[in-house]
Amino acid sequence: MRSQSYVGVVLLIGIIACASLGIAIAGDEEMCVPMGIITLEPPDSVEAKRSAVEFQHSRHFVKACNACHHTWEFTEPITGCMTAGCHDLDTLPRKEDSKAIDKDQAFRFYKNAYHGKCIGCHKTMKQEIQQMATTLAGIDGKLPTTGPTGCIECHPKE
Ligand code: HEC
Ligand code: HEC
Ligand code: HEC
Repeated sequence: MRSQSYVGVVLLIGIIACASLGIAIAGDEEMCVPMGIITLEPPDSVEAKRSAVEFQHSRHFVKACNACHHTWEFTEPITGCMTAGCHDLDTLPRKEDSKAIDKDQAFRFYKNAYHGKCIGCHKTMKQEIQQMATTLAGIDGKLPTTGPTGCIECHPKE
């Protein structure tokens, strides 16, 4: 399949679905929501050590949009994770006066942001599901599924 480059992100099925799936927001503003798989890649300035991540965007709609788009205030169109002022750094930030990592700004390193959110949620869910399984509370049939936490499950060997 041909893919189209899109600010560090390659939308595969997305582009096609978008035209008919615009969500109308207050007045005449519209938001185009990519469906299917979004291929997540590092910014151009980074030489990738791992394979790109095939992220099933719409499959994650079982979660609230703002579980990931956490600055969204429900009125403006959602913008990408690496938007200026957000997770826009390609390395860990260092303090000017020393070489120490600037912990307050570390969230801006795009890789930290992705790993924090993606692996964070999958891990928390795994723990919660394990807890459910041991207490037998809240189980009604099948245990819920969660996402991967191992490197090659997200970055498959090329
Ligand atoms: C599990 C995390 C997650 C959830 C939940 C999620 N998204 Fe996303 N979304 C992403 C990621 C990651 C991208 C790609 C980000 C990028 O382009 O930098 C994205 C991209 C988008 C974009 C394109 C942004 C751009 O770059 O222009 C829109 C619009 C969007 N999502 C809307 C939604 C809506 C609406 C929902 C809820 C129905 C939703 N998303 C739920 C993670 C999520
Ligand atoms: C708020 C919780 C949450 C966040 C954040 C989240 N995920 Fe998930 N993820 C899930 C759940 C729940 C599933 C299981 C969905 C299902 O079985 O349909 C899942 C499944 C997956 C899967 C497996 C899909 C399959 O084919 O079985 C992948 C890969 C994945 N996530 C990648 C990511 C990436 C990459 C990010 C960050 C951009 C991310 N996830 C962020 C909750 C989350
Ligand atoms: C839940 C999915 C997920 C898991 C699990 C995961 N990553 Fe990532 N990782 C991502 C996403 C999304 C990005 C940002 C997109 C990109 O740069 O490819 C990323 C970026 C990276 C990057 C920076 C880009 C590059 O290729 O150099 C490295 C290195 C990396 N991950 C290594 C790892 C290692 C090592 C592990 C296991 C300890 C791991 N990842 C586990 C989703 C994941």
